[in-house]
This record gives sequence, structure tokens and C-alpha cells, in this order.
Amino acid sequence: MCGIVGYVGGQQAVPLLLEGLSRLEHRGYDSAGVAVLTTSGIKVAKKAGRVRDLSEDLPKRFAGKTGIGHTRWATHGPANDVNAHPHTDTKGDVAVVHNGIIDNAAALRQQLTEAGVDLVSDTDTEVLAHLVARSDADTLEGKVRDALAVIDGTYGIAVMHADFPDRLVVARNGSPLIIGVGEKEMHVASDLAALVRYTTTVAHLDDGEIATLTATGFTTYRMDLSTTAKAATTLDIDPSVYDAGDHASFMYKEMLEQPAAAERVLRGRLDERFGTAHLGGLNMDPRETRAIRRVKILGCGSAYYVGQMGAALVEELARIPADAEAASEFRYRDPVIEPDTLYVAVSQSGETIDTLLAVQEIRRKGGRVVGLVNVVGSAIARECDGGIYLHAGPEVAVASTKALTTMFLGFALLALQLGRVRDLSIADGTRLIAGLTRIPGQIAEILEREEEIAAVATRLAEAESLFFVGRVRGFPVAREGAQKFKEISYRHAEAYQTSELKHGPLALISESVPTVAIVPDDELASRNVGALHEIAARRGPLVVVTHEGVDLGEVDAVRIDVPRNERELDPILLTIPLQLLAYHAALHLGHDIDKPRNLAKSVTVE
Ligand code: F6R
Repeated sequence: MCGIVGYVGGQQAVPLLLEGLSRLEHRGYDSAGVAVLTTSGIKVAKKAGRVRDLSEDLPKRFAGKTGIGHTRWATHGPANDVNAHPHTDTKGDVAVVHNGIIDNAAALRQQLTEAGVDLVSDTDTEVLAHLVARSDADTLEGKVRDALAVIDGTYGIAVMHADFPDRLVVARNGSPLIIGVGEKEMHVASDLAALVRYTTTVAHLDDGEIATLTATGFTTYRMDLSTTAKAATTLDIDPSVYDAGDHASFMYKEMLEQPAAAERVLRGRLDERFGTAHLGGLNMDPRETRAIRRVKILGCGSAYYVGQMGAALVEELARIPADAEAASEFRYRDPVIEPDTLYVAVSQSGETIDTLLAVQEIRRKGGRVVGLVNVVGSAIARECDGGIYLHAGPEVAVASTKALTTMFLGFALLALQLGRVRDLSIADGTRLIAGLTRIPGQIAEILEREEEIAAVATRLAEAESLFFVGRVRGFPVAREGAQKFKEISYRHAEAYQTSELKHGPLALISESVPTVAIVPDDELASRNVGALHEIAARRGPLVVVTHEGVDLGEVDAVRIDVPRNERELDPILLTIPLQLLAYHAALHLGHDIDKPRNLAKSVTVE
């Protein structure tokens, strides 16, 4: 959420900053801005809207070789030109970009106002610029340290100062910052995506660290300005994985990448000989694994819904009571943390603050947490006692697709391993391994039916309001389907248990309110079909995501048949057409697929 870039070196900073910002725009796209150090001091250009609006509107002679930039997702104050970052002090000697939230901003604003400072924006960030400017320290590092000493909250910041033109000072507490080491130049960004085109030699800042960047190198410090010995490492990364290539959007590209992502998350983790999974990263021996009495899964949004699918897998395969809970609610109900519960945090970004805080709450109370995380080295991954990396590759689109698929498969592996140290037979383990191995190909089969699904989506897009319904294994599938649909089509899409329809929501069914029903070929199929009749009797249009051979009776419905797998693994295959439905509905409505309104990737604020 929000993106930071910075540059110091021998090249003109602005083109590099703008290119970096465009790579981070999925993290916030309300407004954008850059500041550069020119021969006549700091100049700032910032604007509500997209990075392209900013670049079209840049003043002439906006040149300098040290600069910072920001793309914003508004928290304090509306998205307008004034609230856009960078923020400066009154004289314009200091410029700051900031990700995160300053919790005591209101008190600090009041203190500054009482001291005669004229605050011009509604933001929490502006106080930082004034605090840096008002520090008596001799160095920029000292001024930044003084400012941060009175701040409560989370931040990733980059600061420049007209009196210290050779450097940027950056600091991190809860909001990622990565230093990129170039040839006689240094970069900084809140995400690798903005760096990889320039350098793959990077150093991740830790929480509580400050760093100075000059053209010739970087130094890292603790908050007391004692140095920390931090070396950069060169990543083996292909920068093109951060490009959409010829695809119209990242979401589309990421949906198509699902078969390959599914193969990656499974690779090297299936043990056919013993019909189990190998998850060395969990850091648990069989004795500890057997001692688990309960599994509690925590995630937000789509990660929470796939967590519900994961809980069902754990209960079915390992026969351990399991449930999923929204991480954003968890710590506020003062949860009881049990020593024999395995807590599982699930997150694509590894940065979602609600999930991170839930992990910290559990660990503070002595619980054991493992992570299912995509981004290697992210805050949640680092905070957990062990985990499973998802290997989905970078996910840029706000609407999560391939990460979600790998999360499901990660849960299947976990459930298999937990099951096989208990009562799951080797025959069942082998059956599930065979099922898992079929999944990448079956996802590809569904994606090939895009045209047929797009035609259904175009019709659904016309409805103002829709239901997504499913039962038991199908219910989290319906929740995820509704989530994806509402996120990018902006249609009201509500998920319900099919069994609950007659207890209330059936009142809303009419010929203008379609229902997308999840009806797998399982023990509930005939009951599900009964509910379809009830919807059809109220003239509700029906789209049924099902398996070939499921008899829908006389119901007038558009059916989308997906390939069968093992029943436990079917939910992920039933989810794939729902991604295509959401995508094509949004495309038909002319929406910006990768940047849905009001949202941003990686929610790093509570
Ligand atoms: C939905 C979506 C969000 C995320 C949620 C958690 O398509 O992308 O609901 O799933 O914000 O994000 P992570 O997985 O990064 O913790």
C-alpha cells in the first residue's frame, strides 16, 4: 500500500523515479509525486491521479540527480494535489515520502501548530518533514533519528534535504524498504518490482533501521545511529517476471500463469513412496506434528476464504478440528492461545498488517505460528516459526488469482502431512498425490474455455446485484467468487450458504438478481439441486459451476462444467471459472482490471 522510490547517482533522477513509480502503482493510485534536488534547492511535483498524469504535467527544467517519489493510497485526508507526497517543511528544505501510519499525528500536528508551524496538508506525513527540519542535529541522519524518536506508528520513509545534497536517508518500521546497489548509484524502493530493471543487488532494511544512500554506497544504522553491518546480496531473478508482457493486464497474465505456479508450489514436496508431503520449512518433527490438537488459520480477504478451504482440507484429511478466521478481527477479541494449536498465517504479500499483528499476538502469548506466504523474506514470513513458501512468483494485480491457487495447494500439502502422521492411510495419501499432480493440467483445461465463460460473464455484468452460493466445501469457493466479482466489476455480489437461502435472502431473488451456484459432484449435490429449483421458481437466473454428469433436473441454468479431481481438491478447480467470470464482467464494463477503485495491493494499514 503506497509505493516509495528514491535515487541518488549520476543520472537524471526523474525518469528513473517515474518508471519506478509506474511499477509500484498497484500499491496505491490515488495520487503521485516526485521531488528532486536541483541547483536551486528541492523542487516538488505532485498530483492527484495516476503516475501518467504526473509525468504529463511535470514542470520544465525539473532536473536533478537525487530524488524521491511516491504513489499514494489515501489514509489521512482525501486524494488531492496537496495531500500527495512528497511533503516538505515550510521553507522547502526537506522532502519526505512515507508509507505507513503515524498514530500520534494529531498530537504532533497540534504541537507544531502551537509552535507556529503552518501545516498545509491533511496528512500524517507532513509532520515528519517539519520535525526533520526543526531538529538541531548536525547530520541528516541525526535529524531523521530525532524526528522518528517522537513518532508512534509504522513507516517506511525516504528523506532528502537541500543542505545534504549528496544523500538520501531512509528508515523502516513495519513498512518494507529495499536498497538497490547500482554502478556509482543507489536506488531505494518499497518493493523489488521498482528495482529489478536497474539492479538485482539489494539489501532489505530491517525494522528499526536507518540507512544513508550516497552515489558510492550505503550505510545502515540502528535508531541510536550505531552502524549495523549489512551486506547486499545479488538475487537470481528474471526482471521480466515483473512485466505484463503482451497481456492486457497483470490479472489476466497471472490467471494464465496458474498451471505453472501450481507446479512450482508442489515441486519437490510430494513423497510418492510414503503417500505424504515433505514440508521441511515447517520446522516440526513428527512428534510435534502429532501433538497438534487444533489448527487455526488466519488471513484477510481472499487469503481468509482460501484459509476456509484449507481448514476443510485439514479436517477432512487429518481429522484435526480446524477453522479459519479473519486476521483483522482476531486480536481484538483477546483470543485464547493454546499451546497445542497450530496457527497458520496465510498471505500473498507477507505484509498485510492485520495478519502480521495477529501473528505477533499469537507469538507474544507463546503460540506456534507457521506461514503460507508468497513473498520471500517478507515481514510475516520472518515473524513465523516456520512455513511454506508458495512460489507463485510476483503477483501485481490487486485481485489475487495465482497466489490464491498456490495457497490452496499449500494447505493441501499441509493437510496431507498432518494426515499422514495420523490416520490418513497411505492409499488415501497416494490418491491425493495423484490428484494434486493432475491439478496444473486441469487448471489449464478450464482456462482454455475462456470464451464460453466470457459469454456468461457479459450477461452477469448487466445485473446490479448477484448471489454466489455453495455448501460446505463449496461455500468458501462462493465467498471467493463473490469477492473477486465485486472487487473488479463493482457489482454487489453476496456469498451465502445455499442452505441458508430460504432463511432470508431468497426474498431478494428475482429475474434481475442472478445466482452463481457451486454444485460439485459430492454428497450434497442433490440437496444443492433442490435449492436451484427454489431459485428457478422465483425466476432467478442461474449459472451453475459443476461437474459433468451432475443432473440439474429441469432447472433452466447455464452450466459451467469443470474437470473432476478428488473431492477434497475440487474447490480450487471450481474457483478458476469464477476468476474468469469476474475478469470478463469487469472487462465488459470497461473497468481498470489491475487497479480497482478504492483498493490497493498489500494492505499495510489497519
Ligand atoms: C482479493 C485480494 C485481497 C487479499 C487480502 C490479503 O483479491 O487480493 O482480499 O487477498 O488483502 O492480502 P495478502 O494475501 O497479501 O495478505
